[in-house]
Amino acid sequence: MSGVTAMAAKKFSRSVYAAKLREWGEIAFVDEAAFQHRGKWGELFRQRIGAGFERRMIFEVGCFDAVYLCRIAARYPQVGFIGLDWKCKAIYEGVQRIAQSGLRNVVLLRGRAQEVSRIFGEGEVDEVWVFHPDPCDRPAELKNRLIAEPFLTEVHSVLREGDSNLFLKTDHPSYYQWVLGLLGLPEPTSFQLPSPGVRSRDLMRLEDIPPRNEAVLRRFEVVTNSSDFWNDPAALAAVEARYFAGEVTLFESRFIRKKLPIYFLQLGRRATPFVGVGE
Ligand SMILES: C[S@@+](CC[C@H](N)C(=O)[O-])C[C@H]1O[C@@H](n2cnc3c(N)ncnc32)[C@H](O)[C@@H]1O
Repeated sequence: MSGVTAMAAKKFSRSVYAAKLREWGEIAFVDEAAFQHRGKWGELFRQRIGAGFERRMIFEVGCFDAVYLCRIAARYPQVGFIGLDWKCKAIYEGVQRIAQSGLRNVVLLRGRAQEVSRIFGEGEVDEVWVFHPDPCDRPAELKNRLIAEPFLTEVHSVLREGDSNLFLKTDHPSYYQWVLGLLGLPEPTSFQLPSPGVRSRDLMRLEDIPPRNEAVLRRFEVVTNSSDFWNDPAALAAVEARYFAGEVTLFESRFIRKKLPIYFLQLGRRATPFVGVGE
């Protein structure tokens, strides 16, 4: 298939699934519709779940076909779960899953994570999960990495005051290295080559590692940091009360089978920071 034909096919498939999704307007919110409940997600879940709704909301970025989110949501029917992905077909498959299982506490959004503060109002969300974001690991793509100051600033604004957190998992050594750079944290010793678990081509060029970012550190504190989540008793204990404890995502399962480590960070929201001129 030529580049132009492939692009046309992708556009066609996107529009077919976008149209199909519009038939599921109660549980799927596509593009602009993803913004219509901003500040009112609690009301939506109150209607869908009833008086038992605990007023807790979990937002999963890059939920793909929502198989992971639905598995967890089925165990916590009084909590609201919102999944987002930009792939129409994956969201459509997720919607079918929600409809078939009759889950009242999950909705899905087709949209861009970069628009998180158009989706949620201030302080609406209890947890943000970013599990295995796209690696964007070629030098020209690094600027597209989601975990960076603009996204984290928006996430800070939508997280509830108090105990609210962003959780990140990645299978990608260079992504982890990138985030450690932003947070001013040292790299694990496994990144000192030669190392059995990490290849030099999986690591970043030193000049590409971002400097410690004060705007991010004013907004978040590092609560948990692990370079081998599933083999780290302290990290597992730190999240044992979380909804996602013990659950493996689709992408993660492939890396676990290959015995590769999963990198993990829990960033706790700090109280609203002083925002300096120019920020
Ligand atoms: C590597 S997959 C991981 C899927 C799932 N979280 C897992 O662990 O199995 C990344 C997912 O994030 C979605 N994604 C990447 N960047 C996104 C963005 N900026 N906004 C919305 N979805 C995004 C992709 O479409 C893809 O489904």
